[in-house]
Amino acid sequence: MSERIKSLEAYHQEYERSVADPEGFWADKARQFQWQKPWDQVLQWNFRDPDVKWFLGGKLNITENCLDRHLETRGDQTAILWEPNETDEPGKSLTYRELHAEVCRFANVLKAHGIEKGDRVCLYMPMIPELAISVLACARIGAVHSVVFAGFSASALADRINDASAKAVLTSDGNFRGKKSIPVKSVVDEALQQCTSVSSCIVVQRTKDEVDWTPGRDFWWHEEREKVTADCAAETMDAEDMLFILYTSGSTGKPKGVVHTIGGYMVYTEYSFRNVFQYEDGDIYWCTADIGWITGHSYIIYGPLLAGATTMMFEGVPTYPDAGRFWQIVEKHRVNIFYTAPTAIRALQAFGEAYVEKYDLSSLKTLGSVGEPINKEAWEWYYEHIGKKKCPIVDTWWQTETGGIMISPLAGITPLKPTYATLPLPGVQPMLVDAEGKELTGNGVEGNLCIKFPWPSILRTTYGDHERCRQTYFSTYPDMYFTGDGCRRDEDGYYRILGRVDDVINVSGHRMGTAEVENAINEHPDVIESAVVGYPHEIKGQGIYAFVICEEDVTDEEKLRQEILGTVTKVIGPIAKPDKIQVVRGLPKTRSGKIMRRILRKVAEGDVSNLGDTSTLLDPGVVEDIKSGALSSA
Ligand code: WT7
Repeated sequence: MSERIKSLEAYHQEYERSVADPEGFWADKARQFQWQKPWDQVLQWNFRDPDVKWFLGGKLNITENCLDRHLETRGDQTAILWEPNETDEPGKSLTYRELHAEVCRFANVLKAHGIEKGDRVCLYMPMIPELAISVLACARIGAVHSVVFAGFSASALADRINDASAKAVLTSDGNFRGKKSIPVKSVVDEALQQCTSVSSCIVVQRTKDEVDWTPGRDFWWHEEREKVTADCAAETMDAEDMLFILYTSGSTGKPKGVVHTIGGYMVYTEYSFRNVFQYEDGDIYWCTADIGWITGHSYIIYGPLLAGATTMMFEGVPTYPDAGRFWQIVEKHRVNIFYTAPTAIRALQAFGEAYVEKYDLSSLKTLGSVGEPINKEAWEWYYEHIGKKKCPIVDTWWQTETGGIMISPLAGITPLKPTYATLPLPGVQPMLVDAEGKELTGNGVEGNLCIKFPWPSILRTTYGDHERCRQTYFSTYPDMYFTGDGCRRDEDGYYRILGRVDDVINVSGHRMGTAEVENAINEHPDVIESAVVGYPHEIKGQGIYAFVICEEDVTDEEKLRQEILGTVTKVIGPIAKPDKIQVVRGLPKTRSGKIMRRILRKVAEGDVSNLGDTSTLLDPGVVEDIKSGALSSA
C-alpha cells in the first residue's frame, strides 16, 4: 500500500507537485495497483468536446485490485461487515477470501445468463451483502453496473433500465427497513412491463415474502449460485472501458446517466479514501450511505476495498428500533471511522443526547459529513456529542460526476473550520468565477465553483448523449468543468460550499431536479401547471415547495394535495414528494413566459416583505394572490 499524507506540510508539497506535474503525480499513485498491461500515456484531455482519458492503453480489472491483490496479505481479514435491520438478527461478515469467492461465483451466474463484457446490468436491491457482491461480479466480467436506489418507483426504474438497455436486473423479494417490510420484486415486475431489453431477473431471497414469478425470466439467486463454480478469471479491461452508469438529477426533466470508467476511478477513489479518512490497517470504517448513490459506490465499495479496509454495510434506518441505532452499532462493532450526512445528524440531534449517552463511542477516531452543506449547529453537535471533541470532522464536498471527494480536510491534518470543506485534495484545481466567467483571484471572494484541470475520476460522458454532458458541465464556462455550486473562498483560502446555483434542490442529501418534480406533478389530470422551488428545511436541509394551478372545477384542495403526493410517489418515488403544495390561480411570469422563480423562492422562504422588482411581470396581480395564500414556513 502506498504512503499516506501525514502532515500539513506534506499535504502542501503533494498538492504543489500535483499541479506542477499532474501526470507524474498520478502515475506514481497508479503504480501500486495490479495492471495486466501498463499504460502508454497518462493523460489526454480537452474540456471542449469534452474528451478526457487517463492511463491510456492500460489493461486491468478493478476486482483484481479490490480482491485478488489482497488475498495473500489479508485473505482472512473482514472485508465486508454487514449489520441487519433487526437488532436480534445475527449479522454477517465476509473475509476478503470469502468475498472473492462469492464475487467469482456470481460472476459465473451472470455469464451463464449470457451477460458479456460491455452489457449493462441494472441493480435494484436493498442494502444486503448481495448488492456489493453483484456490483463486483459485474466488474469482474466487464459488465457495466447501473445501480438504482431501491426507493425509486417502478416508472423511474423502467426509465433507467430503458435508457441503458439493461440485459438483466438483479433484485430481492423485499426489503426490511425499520418497522416495515417493503416489496421490491413487485416494483421490478411492474417496471419490466415497460422494458424489452431485459432477459433475466435474478432475485435474492431476503424477506421470504411471496412474490409473483415469470418463468424463464425470473431466477432465485440461491439456486443459480449452486449451479456454478467459484472460479472466474477476471476479464481484461481497458483503463477507459466503462465501469458503471449512475443516474442523477439535473436542471432538465430527465435524469442523466453519469458514466465512470475503470482506471482513473480506481486510482482516485483509493487515494482519496486513504488520505481523507486517514485509514489505518485494522480500522473499522462505516459509511451510512446507500449503495444506490455515488457515496456508496466510491466509499462503501470501491475506495475501501481497494485500500484493503474493513467496510461496514447497514441495512436499516437511523431511527429503528430507536434514535440510538447508529450509536449502538458504533459500540457493537467498535467503529473507528464514521461517515454520514448532515440530514441524519440533524434528525438524530432532534431526539436529544440521551440516545447517544447510552453507548460507548470511545472507538471513534474520525467523523465524516457528505451530501449537503452542514450547518454550524449540526457540526458542533456532531463534534461535541458524537466525537467528544476529539475526532476531526471531514466535511467532504464532491458530486456524482466527480466520482470521488474533491474538497475536504484530511483527518487530523488539515486545521478545521466548522461548515468549511476547507482545501482541495491534491490533483484538484478549483476556481471561482463570476457570472460572466471571469476568474475571481485571491482570497475573500464568492462565486461559482469550477474545476480547471481534469482529475482521474471525472465523469467521461452521460450515457448515450455526449452532447448533453458537454452542455451541462462544459459549456457554461469555456474550458472549465462547472459544478453547479456556489462557493466562498475565505481569507485563509478555505472553501465553503454555499449550495446549488442551478435548478437542483438537495433534499436530505438527495438531488432532485425542479423540472423533474414539476413533470411528475403535471401528470395529475387536474393539474394545469406547476412550479417547484426549494426552501430551507430544519431537518432535510431543503424542502420541496410546489405551486400548482389546477382545473377550475376542483373544489377539494386537500384531496388534490393527497393525490399529487400519490402521483409524485408513483412517477419518481417517495423521496420527491413535495413538503408543501400551494394551489394558486397563476404563476409569476415575465412577458416572454418565463417563470420568475426568484419570487417563488422568496415566498417559499416566508420572506414576502421584499420581492424585488415585479414590474416586468405579465400580471403583477398574481403575486398578491400567491402571497396571501403562502403556506407557513414552520
Ligand atoms: C451535490 C452533489 C457527493 C456525494 C453525495 C451527493 C452537494 C455534496 C457537500 C458538502 C456542501 C455538498 C453539492 C453538490 N454537496 N457534498 N460536503 N458540502 N454541499 O452527491 O447527489 O451528486 O450531489 O451535493 O451541492 O453539487 P450528488
